[in-house]
Amino acid sequence: MSKTRFAIVGCGSIGKRHIAVLDAEPKAEIVAICDKDEDAARAQSELYDDLPFFTDYATMLAEIEADVINVVTPHHLHAEMAIQAMNAGFDTLVEKPMALSTEDCEKMNAASESTGKQLWIVKQNRHNVPVKLAKDAIDKGMLGQLFMVKCDILWNRYQGYYDDSPWRGNKELEGGALFTQASHFIDLLIWWCGDVLEAKGHAETQNHSIETEDSGAAILKFKSGAIGSLVWTTCVYNKNYEGSITIIGEKGTIKIGGKYLNKIEFWEVEGYPLPEGIEFSDKPNAYGKYQGTSSNHDKVVKALIAHLHKDGNETVDGFEGMKSITAIEHIYNATKHA
Ligand SMILES: NC(=O)c1ccc[n+]([C@@H]2O[C@H](COP(=O)([O-])OP(=O)(O)OC[C@H]3O[C@@H](n4cnc5c(N)ncnc54)[C@H](O)[C@@H]3O)[C@@H](O)[C@H]2O)c1
Repeated sequence: MSKTRFAIVGCGSIGKRHIAVLDAEPKAEIVAICDKDEDAARAQSELYDDLPFFTDYATMLAEIEADVINVVTPHHLHAEMAIQAMNAGFDTLVEKPMALSTEDCEKMNAASESTGKQLWIVKQNRHNVPVKLAKDAIDKGMLGQLFMVKCDILWNRYQGYYDDSPWRGNKELEGGALFTQASHFIDLLIWWCGDVLEAKGHAETQNHSIETEDSGAAILKFKSGAIGSLVWTTCVYNKNYEGSITIIGEKGTIKIGGKYLNKIEFWEVEGYPLPEGIEFSDKPNAYGKYQGTSSNHDKVVKALIAHLHKDGNETVDGFEGMKSITAIEHIYNATKHA
């Protein structure tokens, strides 16, 4: 079987992880990388046997032979870069969030349909073992009716996280903490409970010098009938405290917690005991002074390659990816910003 050829645009914090994961994947080959910051691109090129690198995205698309482009740039560039890639004939994997508006997501999906090129979104938390177990229990109806979900994202981001970045904390370029810190969690809430039908919230910038909110709380109503609460902050003192979701169903209760949905903290489901002997050790993406959510990008890449070879479908396409963006828009529109 020939290797799937990847090219990556964006060699920043998580772009480096894409490169490392693809380099370690036997069924993948990296043909080129791109970053407008020449030093960033060159540093990654030198780390990986002088990988070909570009500083201009359009030039890379015009010159390379590849199967998939990974878009790993700031949020405001996702839609435009993904559409460019698909129009140039490449399947495209886009980091979360898919884009900053439903309108842009629709344009991306239209480009995928008109070009016949695949569009996938990175949702690596769907591969966390506790998350998959909960999904299985819900899909099999073992929890009965879902009554409540409670999602807490209680994290720390130091001021330098924003100050050192040209886009984080900026309304136009980043969009806000729901796009950055909460989008994986919102994706899972929708995966389990259906679309967000109603929302009401309150958000503030409490302890950072930024344009976007750093804290908020929202009440949600999901299509499944579940009521939910979502609390998010990057103001926790010193380090991440918790990233958790509790599900209260008619026939069971599950809490997936730890700092980044990496632990089963409580599991009591009628007729569905926690399987014995399951092993999991989901690790966080670590960036020195702060940690993000789980680092299952290797599983995202394996799922994508399997999908291309018609061997399973654990990928998340653009229509599925759009759901969390629509929910985030809905929540922000219904949120009072103090
Ligand atoms: N899945 C996850 O858990 C996860 C974790 C972290 C970040 N992310 C997402 O990955 C994306 C990138 O985040 P990051 O933390 O790596 O950001 P970053 O700022 O560290 O890196 C972005 C890189 O893109 C480059 N870039 C910007 N504009 C460009 C252009 N026009 N052409 C080429 N390169 C350009 C920058 O020079 C920079 O090196 C964001 O969407 C972010 O939300 C996802």
